[in-house]
This record gives sequence, structure tokens and C-alpha cells, in this order.
Amino acid sequence: MSTVDVRPLEGVGAEIHGVDIAAGLSNTQFDAIHKAFCDHGLIFFRDQTITENDHIELAQKFGNIDINRFFAAHPDYPEIAMVSKDVDQKDNIGGGWHTDHSYDRDPAMGSILVARELPDSGGDTLFSSMYAAYDNLSDGFKQMLEGLNAVHSATHIFGSGPVGYAAQTDAGGSAGADAKDDGRIGNASLADTMPDVIHPVIITHPLSGKKALYVNPAFTVRFEGWTEDESRPLMQQLFAECARPEYTHRFAWKPGSIAFWDNRATWHWAMNDYQGQRRVMHRITVEGCPLS
Ligand code: SIN
Repeated sequence: MSTVDVRPLEGVGAEIHGVDIAAGLSNTQFDAIHKAFCDHGLIFFRDQTITENDHIELAQKFGNIDINRFFAAHPDYPEIAMVSKDVDQKDNIGGGWHTDHSYDRDPAMGSILVARELPDSGGDTLFSSMYAAYDNLSDGFKQMLEGLNAVHSATHIFGSGPVGYAAQTDAGGSAGADAKDDGRIGNASLADTMPDVIHPVIITHPLSGKKALYVNPAFTVRFEGWTEDESRPLMQQLFAECARPEYTHRFAWKPGSIAFWDNRATWHWAMNDYQGQRRVMHRITVEGCPLS
């Protein structure tokens, strides 16, 4: 089997070459990919031809599958969440900075997104490094944030209210009302009753041991013990730090592309710039652990 070639990218992430996922990964290849995932928090594969079963098998090599409770599932593979936008749909899913599942007590470790149908142009995904966002803060600012926790919620996004992804923030994009109305997002009654959860604002990453900022504009609603109004200025400041262009990479999808991001080390934002065209992606989310 060929050697895994890891090519770091500007901003965040690395491209992995020299593997054919459908042919199966040797232990050596898996170890190299796992190391690249730990080191970079975001890896991409190109020119892959994988079935839904290959996708599931790849995810299971990294952990148990954490089935998304709000996105429509693939009709034949409940493990796969459909991240799709049809020609007549206006909102996309994930059209604002966020990280998946931070509203869970044990937030998902990572998400593996496979391109199934792409627009002729547009539909890129932006990623940002939460390691870089943390590292570049001053020592004084880091110390001030060290003891803070934040409250994360799914209710305002997936609940029965009208607000959708990023509509509550100035992060841009949208993906709320339309996606709920046309069945791409459901289970609002669960989101209405899900308890909010608390995570540290600075986490020690469970895989890399490095420190990272862990707040995001979609699901983080306030600091623990602070009101939303009190939280807003500092929260917005952190969001702006996390979204600095120098920490980001814009990934242009092609047929056969796969992205695998660590939700505790990155943010992402699906661009909604391909109106009138169809984009279909399959996403599997891998279970995580409590954060500290
Ligand atoms: C997501 O937010 O999980 C979807 C990202 C994308 O469609 O590019």
C-alpha cells in the first residue's frame, strides 16, 4: 500500500494524498491519517470514490457514530445525515460559523462530509482554527478567560421558534425557517426540551493536549452566570478573533472530495452562493467526550 502523504494547507488543515479509502486502510495508513487529524484538526481527501458503507466504515475507525437528531437522515443509511440544498431552496444548512453538536454534553468529536452532488461553481466550505484563535490571544486575555464557562443550546436553532443557523448572530448566512419547513431539519420538539449544557471557554483538546477556544456563534448563547446582554460584547470579541482570515482555509469541493474536521479544534461555514443549483453532501458525525 502506498505511503500517506500529508500536505499542510495555509490557515488550517492538511490534504491527505496516497490513500484509496474504498480499498481499505492498512494499520500504518490509519495511524498516519489519525496523526494528521490530531495534528491539524482538519483533513481533506481528494479523488475518492466511496460508497455509503465505506463512509460508515471510515467513521467507525475513529469512534462510534453520533447520529444527528435534527437533520434528515439518508433514506437507507440512518447513520448518514443529509446536508442538502435543492434548486428551489433558498437557505443552506450550516450557512454561518459554527461547530457541530456543541449543544451536547459530550460534543461530537468530528464530522466526515462527503460530496455527492456539487453545483457548477460555489458551495465552498470555510474552516477556521480554534488553536490559532487561542494561541494568538495575549497572556492576560487568556488568563481572564481561563476560569470562564459558556452555555450552549440547540433550542434557538432547531426548536419550534423561527430562528435558524446563524440568523441570531452577525455571522452571516442562514439556514433556519426554510430548511425546517421543507423537512431538511426536524425534531423541533426535542430541541425545545433539550437542556442547555456548559463547556469551558478554553478547552484542553482531548486528542492533541493543546488549548483551544470553544465558543461558536450558532450555539453558544452566553457565559455561565452572565446574562445574554452582559455576555454579548466579550462573546462577539471572541467570535471575531476566531474568524480572523489568517486562521481560515476555504475548501473548494470537487467530485470525490471528503472533509473530516475536529469539532473541538475548528469552526466551519458552508457558503450559500449557488442559488438555483443543487448541492448534496453526506455527513457522519463521530462521538466525542466531555470537555475540560
Ligand atoms: C455542515 O455544517 O456540517 C455542512 C458543511 C457543508 O455543507 O459544507
